Amino acid sequence: MLYDQLFVSMESARWDLSRDIDFDAIEPARLTPRWIDTVREVCALQLASLRASEMFLGGFRADIDFCSFVSVWFYEEMEHHLVLRKYLEHLGEALEETEMPRLRVSPDEAPAIDALTLRFFGEQRLAQRYAALATTVPERVLGRIFTILAAGEARHAAAYATYLRRAVERHPAALPGTLRLALWTMRAADEPTAAAGAGAAAGQSSAPLREDRHYIRRMQGLYRLLAPDATILVEEKLPALSPATAGAL
Ligand SMILES: [Fe+2]
Repeated sequence: MLYDQLFVSMESARWDLSRDIDFDAIEPARLTPRWIDTVREVCALQLASLRASEMFLGGFRADIDFCSFVSVWFYEEMEHHLVLRKYLEHLGEALEETEMPRLRVSPDEAPAIDALTLRFFGEQRLAQRYAALATTVPERVLGRIFTILAAGEARHAAAYATYLRRAVERHPAALPGTLRLALWTMRAADEPTAAAGAGAAAGQSSAPLREDRHYIRRMQGLYRLLAPDATILVEEKLPALSPATAGAL
């Protein structure tokens, strides 16, 4: 089972909440209210793993391998939540337990393989976001926490990639739908950033999406990941990736 190797590799990369984070070294004066809001937001975001775990355990009921992995993933996501909650406590900004049910995210149900695809991209986005926060945060302990979280999310993305690849191997007919959802997810993630960046620079309210070539490269990478034994066209031979052709994938 994939779980056997993933358990060992994730165990070997595990960090210790009590030993590795020096909460007494926190320098609250270095944090602006906006940074504290960001920590509260990320702390609450980790609770999304509650609902996702429910969905996975139900949607993959017969897949003992994947359900076993969910136990490790859920543990690590809740550890992310806990380290940030303890950080907030040290700042005197504790999240009250009574607040938490309101913070619990309830995404719509998704078919099992779609849920894996969304989770794979979600973990990558979180890894990138936490890495960016780690490089800009003015407080050293919080920087270390975000660095640890970024590494954890990157490992999660890699683990989800192994299960997504196995799902495609078992159900090759699901590949086109998976690639379609992946393209939609990439575009949805890029569009607000592109719009905000260009809008701020040019005084416009919207901006075009990234060039098609950017998506072609990423889609080729994903295709290699999901179907490593398949032959892939070299980039120059691929047609331009317009929304219309993307829909036909
Ligand atoms: Fe994660």
